Amino acid sequence: MKFEEMLLKRESCRSYLDKAVAKEDLIKIAEAGRLSPSGCNAQPWKFMIVNEPEALEKLRDALVLSNGGTGAPWRDQCSSYIVIVEQKANVMQAVLDYYGDSQRFAQGDLAMACLNMCYQAMDLGLSTCIIGMNDQKKMEANFGIPADNIVRLVLAVGYAEEKEPRRKIRKAFDKVVCFNEWK
Ligand SMILES: Cc1cc2nc3c(=O)[nH]c(=O)nc-3n(C[C@H](O)[C@H](O)[C@H](O)COP(=O)(O)O)c2cc1C
Repeated sequence: MKFEEMLLKRESCRSYLDKAVAKEDLIKIAEAGRLSPSGCNAQPWKFMIVNEPEALEKLRDALVLSNGGTGAPWRDQCSSYIVIVEQKANVMQAVLDYYGDSQRFAQGDLAMACLNMCYQAMDLGLSTCIIGMNDQKKMEANFGIPADNIVRLVLAVGYAEEKEPRRKIRKAFDKVVCFNEWK
């Protein structure tokens, strides 16, 4: 599939078929994350694949916030997830000197890795949904993730029903792109 077609066809999937994703495919998807670019090549990430029943229960629990809110009311339908965790970034001294923050690029790095994983999944015939909200305390308690390792995103991965892609709802091109001057 051409990249332009992938751009139009990738969409967040919130309804999954009852069909397991092969471990090899999950490994390929995580590999796409691992190969992603990052500021200072710091690779401030760890990817936890969750696809076994007990771990899935713990993950689904952590996708519900302590106030009961969730970004994934459909979480029981999906049986493979990749938890994307931010770790301390070993960046160049110049970055630390200027920004005073080793994590300056980290969230951008994780987002790029996440999107690469989305497209790798798509190339394997799989669908994804990025989930932004999770309960960090539950992630720590349920999986032993250290408190300074922040779970930024969780990627749901699975098979979707064949259907026409939704129309993309996006801001107009000239609202978000300008040339040579700030408009
Ligand atoms: C950082 C981030 C967090 C997101 N969190 C959620 C979420 O918690 N639940 C959900 O269903 N979709 C979530 N999404 C998916 C967005 O709602 C979706 O990308 C957006 O509406 C555009 O639709 P599309 O992905 O189908 O093109 C998230 C996307 C991003 C990039």
